[in-house]
Amino acid sequence: MSIEQLAETALAMVAPGKGIIAIDESTTTIGKRFAAVGIENTEDHRRAYRELLLTTPKLPQHISGAILYDETLRQSTRAGVPFARYLADSGILPGIKVDKGTVALAGFPGELVTEGLDGLRPRLEEYYRLGARFAKWRAVINIGDDIPTGTCIEANSHALARYAALCQEQGLVPMVEPEVLMDGDHDIETCYEVTEAVLRSLFAALYEQNVLLEGTILKASMVIAGKDCPEQADVQEVAESTLMCLKSTVPAILPGIVFLSGGQEDEDATAHLDAMNRLGPNPWTLSFSYGRAMQQAALKLWAKDMDANFRKAQDTVFARARDNSRAALGQWQGEG
Ligand code: 13P
Repeated sequence: MSIEQLAETALAMVAPGKGIIAIDESTTTIGKRFAAVGIENTEDHRRAYRELLLTTPKLPQHISGAILYDETLRQSTRAGVPFARYLADSGILPGIKVDKGTVALAGFPGELVTEGLDGLRPRLEEYYRLGARFAKWRAVINIGDDIPTGTCIEANSHALARYAALCQEQGLVPMVEPEVLMDGDHDIETCYEVTEAVLRSLFAALYEQNVLLEGTILKASMVIAGKDCPEQADVQEVAESTLMCLKSTVPAILPGIVFLSGGQEDEDATAHLDAMNRLGPNPWTLSFSYGRAMQQAALKLWAKDMDANFRKAQDTVFARARDNSRAALGQWQGEG
């Protein structure tokens, strides 16, 4: 696969005013989301729910790509069309989560490392054959007393870079996601320092592993105070701090940065993205790759009545896509 083709895919992922819908929850994670609204975690419910999201009318107006989980990439619509083909036909790039989740980092209490490198090359080959054109790997960085350590940051960056190089070898654009969690009572300054160290380490590792940045997308967490911090920064401060941190760590040749929502309220996630784009022009396109902030309203509605609320739930997915797409252009007018 040539770098030109990878770069073309990466640019399509961050086309102006478009973003990514993340629906790549593992079976365990979707089980937790289902349990919270009283839905049983069966394969059929997972398939039906993913069909609701992916077949939202007019979704391609605002969505360039969808990140799927292994099971979903192998499933089809009720009418029998494989989801990957359905997406490609509607102009949405199919993506796939390829990490195998986190485990405790031995010797470093409270810290995690992401697994999934063993056997990754043949898995990527198969995902490409099944229609995936980009892949995601999520590293998780916890903030707490004396953590993260440099060892944890480096172990995760190394894995992200190894995965990214393998993706490019197999013609898939790597979406590298080092998520600094919002859990805890840390302040925004602490989040800034940790995020800066994580991104420096990540881009050094990508360079070491010969990863071509023109064919890479960064999925970033925002610089924001911990959920339990008594002092919460306002929208402008989150936007300015995040941009400052990204500008001092992320090379301008990267085509785009997409944000995760990380547990933010739907409207906050939109407002933060909008504010960052109003502060532009920025060196890279800034858009979204939200999971919860795209789905939460739809899941609640669907849980109340799977048949009667199917279209209403899709309407909320469309509305979230439209609002976040406006925010990706710095043209969101607030709710309503
Ligand atoms: P959230 O937007 O819910 O954080 O999910 C995005 C994602 O893909 C996390 O890996």
